[in-house]
Amino acid sequence: MGSKDSRPKAHAPRKLSFWTFCTANGEIKIDIGAILTQSEGDGMGKKLIEVALPLEAINREAARENYIYKGNPSAIHKWWAQRPLAACRAVLFASLVDDPSSHPELFPTEETQERERQRLFRLIEDLVKWENSNNAKVLEQVRVEIRKSCGNNPPPVLDPFCGGGSIPLEAQRLGLEVYASDLNPVAVLITKALIEIPSSTTTRIRNVM
Ligand SMILES: C[S@@+](CC[C@H](N)C(=O)[O-])C[C@H]1O[C@@H](n2cnc3c(N)ncnc32)[C@H](O)[C@@H]1O
Repeated sequence: MGSKDSRPKAHAPRKLSFWTFCTANGEIKIDIGAILTQSEGDGMGKKLIEVALPLEAINREAARENYIYKGNPSAIHKWWAQRPLAACRAVLFASLVDDPSSHPELFPTEETQERERQRLFRLIEDLVKWENSNNAKVLEQVRVEIRKSCGNNPPPVLDPFCGGGSIPLEAQRLGLEVYASDLNPVAVLITKALIEIPSSTTTRIRNVM
């Protein structure tokens, strides 16, 4: 299943796929796969997630989400090991946005890089708040940052083990092209209910699997 927007492909998209993570004891842990963004050595610099994340804020919001039922996708149907939306949102964002050290022409010193990093952290802290899930201003700000770091052509996101659909839902919220699949038809149905049906009036659907 998937959703797609109609942005033109100016160049080959970067791939961001085969990843998941969990929170255990309030800490984010990358648990399988790899985040396939370009990294050091490819001439494209580092992504923010490779350098630092405001973990305290992300973990706090991820834990808080467990106690919010109204509007929470887990209320549609509980799925095993459903990832917190706040963490999915933050990790997707930080995987796509460049760390300031990747732009020495803009941030020539460690001090200027750190100042810019802190600005991105404040944005993440806003982004992960449950109350901002549909805050158009915050979402537009983060979409602008993503486009800026991805040559105006962000990569599609693939979650081949989508389960309860947290990662596809958050990728869609960030304005990304999303593909998802799961072995289990119940998981497929939950994810369709989350990302395809609500967006079907505004987003063209492609690849129903
Ligand atoms: C840990 S859950 C994913 C949870 C998901 N990230 C979420 O936030 O809800 C792992 C999922 O992988 C699916 N799965 C396991 N083996 C698979 C396979 N070979 N192909 C596709 N899906 C598979 C399971 O059905 C399960 O829904």
